[in-house]
Amino acid sequence: MSEKPWDGRFQESTDKAVEVFTSSIAVDSRLYRHDIEGSMAHCRMLAKQGIITNDEAEKMVAGLAKIKGDIESGHFAYSDSLEDIHMHIESALTQDIGETAKKLHTARSRNDQVALDIRMYLREVSRDVIALLKDIRTILVTLAEKHDGVVMAGYTHLQRAQPVLLSHHLMAYYEMFKRDEERFTDGLKRINVMPLGSAALAGTTYPIDRAYTAELLDFPKVSANSMDSVADRDFIIEFISASSICMMHLSRFSEELILWSSSEFAFVVISDAFTTGSSIMPQKKNPDIPELVRGKTGRVYGNLMSVLTLMKSLPMTYNRDMQEDKPPLFDTVDTLTACLDIYRRMLPNITFRERRLSETTETGFINATDLADYLASKGLPFRDAHEAVGRTVAYGLGNGKELQDMTVAELKGFSPLIEDDVFAFLETRNIIDRRISQGGTATANVREAVAQAKRDLGL
Ligand code: ARG
Repeated sequence: MSEKPWDGRFQESTDKAVEVFTSSIAVDSRLYRHDIEGSMAHCRMLAKQGIITNDEAEKMVAGLAKIKGDIESGHFAYSDSLEDIHMHIESALTQDIGETAKKLHTARSRNDQVALDIRMYLREVSRDVIALLKDIRTILVTLAEKHDGVVMAGYTHLQRAQPVLLSHHLMAYYEMFKRDEERFTDGLKRINVMPLGSAALAGTTYPIDRAYTAELLDFPKVSANSMDSVADRDFIIEFISASSICMMHLSRFSEELILWSSSEFAFVVISDAFTTGSSIMPQKKNPDIPELVRGKTGRVYGNLMSVLTLMKSLPMTYNRDMQEDKPPLFDTVDTLTACLDIYRRMLPNITFRERRLSETTETGFINATDLADYLASKGLPFRDAHEAVGRTVAYGLGNGKELQDMTVAELKGFSPLIEDDVFAFLETRNIIDRRISQGGTATANVREAVAQAKRDLGL
């Protein structure tokens, strides 16, 4: 047999530069397990349907198993002249077991084969990502529980806004990662569809049993249209899209950790083991992990744009352009899993400076909304209350006094409705615990949110 499975119609041999240019083996060799598993199932289906004999199928399955071993032990030779992982494995099988191997590609094309391989790979990866997200959610719940009752300033516009619980803030991230997990889980529905048997694009004349192949490979569904099956890469775009959103969440978290570990904020200390130093400034301890995660987010966004653009003008059905889906997909998988993994390790190594966090609720007129609520509770329309408190704040700014540091007499100057009970009303703990609206930061609410999260996680 000639080296290339397709060169029968060619008079000249391929130019070396073309082989190098068209080869994808350096990238797609990572699909070897899925390719082999898919081929084994294909063999078994062909035998069950009487398209090949049981002996032939057994021979091929044994040969494929040996190739898997060769690849894993490093005894497998790769060459650009064999283009991709699919041709490498078929060619090795032919070398190992001879003529029988030539029947492997019956009722199949590389077009449906590559679609199958990526789907098998991506469902495995999706499950890994879901497990990593579950770990991170568990850590967040643990931290929220550990810091039960710790108060801090909540921010809008990066300005102190209203007091909240640290655990409420942490549980906000829990919600983001929960949505991420839902997106990956939902994506699995569309990844987990079996395309093999679509052949090049039109289906096949052989009496194959696609449902049986799907069953062997644990796919709950068989793809419906042979043309769509080989042309579709939506599931890759969805995966990178869910990854981009997840990276955006990690990046926002990173931004906060970077700010929070500065001397200006000093809300957290990331342990030495999870920070790095400066080659010139001896005092430095830098939050490189969150910085790199923030930086890597851009790569994943770029990958999303690459694949969207790659696909946007492709006519039906398979086009070789689609081979370019793998570098951005694999880079996304590697980047996302590395970031989730390092976060999972770093989060338990962060110390929250509780005293410092609670100090941020004592200044900056963070209780101004509550003074307005106080006046409204005494019958003043909220807009008028807002006005009166605004003037009180202006007075405080001018005189270097927080609201709670003014005397009742001073406060009465802005509204006669203010009485002695205002001071208890303005205490941080009370401010927080009055926020009992569903999803609010009241201690009881946050404890219930933590309890619900633990039930969701099976803890
Ligand atoms: N290496 C190709 C890819 O990744 C496999 C499919 C090739 N099919 C073909 N007809 N050239 O897309």
